[in-house]
Amino acid sequence: MQFPPLTTHTQTVSFHIASDIIKKSHNPLTLKHCYLYTFNYAYHHSQLCKLESRQIFDNEQTNKLLFSNIKVDPSISPFIKNRFEIISSSEDYSELLVNIKKENIHDEGFKAEYLVLHGDDTTYPERLKKLKDIGLVIVGFPNFKTPTTTYSICNYQNIWHFGVLIKHNSDWYKHKKKPRSFSNSIGIKIGKTLVSIASKGNKTIELLDACCGVGTVMLEACFSGLNVEGCDIKLKRCEHTRQNLAHYNYNANVYCSDIKDLNKKYDAAIIDLPYNLYSYSNDTILTNIIESTAKLTTRIVIVSIADVEPIIKKSGLKISDFCTVKKRGRSQFTRNIWVCEKESNSN
Ligand SMILES: C[S@@+](CC[C@H](N)C(=O)[O-])C[C@H]1O[C@@H](n2cnc3c(N)ncnc32)[C@H](O)[C@@H]1O
Repeated sequence: MQFPPLTTHTQTVSFHIASDIIKKSHNPLTLKHCYLYTFNYAYHHSQLCKLESRQIFDNEQTNKLLFSNIKVDPSISPFIKNRFEIISSSEDYSELLVNIKKENIHDEGFKAEYLVLHGDDTTYPERLKKLKDIGLVIVGFPNFKTPTTTYSICNYQNIWHFGVLIKHNSDWYKHKKKPRSFSNSIGIKIGKTLVSIASKGNKTIELLDACCGVGTVMLEACFSGLNVEGCDIKLKRCEHTRQNLAHYNYNANVYCSDIKDLNKKYDAAIIDLPYNLYSYSNDTILTNIIESTAKLTTRIVIVSIADVEPIIKKSGLKISDFCTVKKRGRSQFTRNIWVCEKESNSN
């Protein structure tokens, strides 16, 4: 079966198309999707990954993969490992090869890679044979070290797919060695997920990190190419955030201010609320932070170890999604993550 040529849908348009199509059918051959995403995550992050997947794709990944017609950069998420852009699919392997040949692909320096998916028991020698087949229907000399394009073949539920493989860029791991940290800093994987959830993978938005601490979330937003600004009430935290940003040559404004005194508009905001451990916190402080941020944006992702749901609801925000994230191992330390939207009739 041939798919239409790849197009770069805008996020908003394709979002609705995808949700309609995906709800109608789960048969990968009847879906008009263009992309197959593969995921990887540790068990304690499974709910966080599902929340991210719901927010970006309007659908949960299963078996660590997801078909969608929404195009996002796989490096925006800590969990998406590959974006496979489907060019052709068929239940019949020989027909797939004929279809690829018809594409008349000329590519000097290409590479072919077999993508092993859940449930695919194709043996290693068979996989090598199939890569050779692919190599023979693409015109050009391969380059295995620095390929121009990586073409890929995979099998899911007895359907063969051929396409272009875009891999996750894990350079953001360098942020683990940021010069400034503190005990209440959020982990970089959660920080990165907060950015992908708040932005829904859209890199053109203006994002606010309302309680930026030492800037863990801001580093991830900068790496993904988003326009981000930060705010923290403590001068030392702001200075440390600026040092961290400068260390990686990122440019972003950091306001040393109580969030209630900020007077700008953003497309989305992230609030990693003070934990009452090293930053003092009570209901009045939390209400001030949430209500003040809600005046600056219509979409907020809130993180807290406390149950702040009553405060969120009182502030006029509607909770659209939620998950909890435990620390790895037996730790009882749990973070709550709420995705909130401002109701249309509130200020
Ligand atoms: C849990 S920490 C954020 C940690 C941050 N995500 C990081 O990884 O470094 C909460 C931060 O909120 C800041 N804060 C508390 N009240 C605030 C307010 N009214 N306006 C802005 N920031 C505030 C604290 O100074 C603290 O740095």
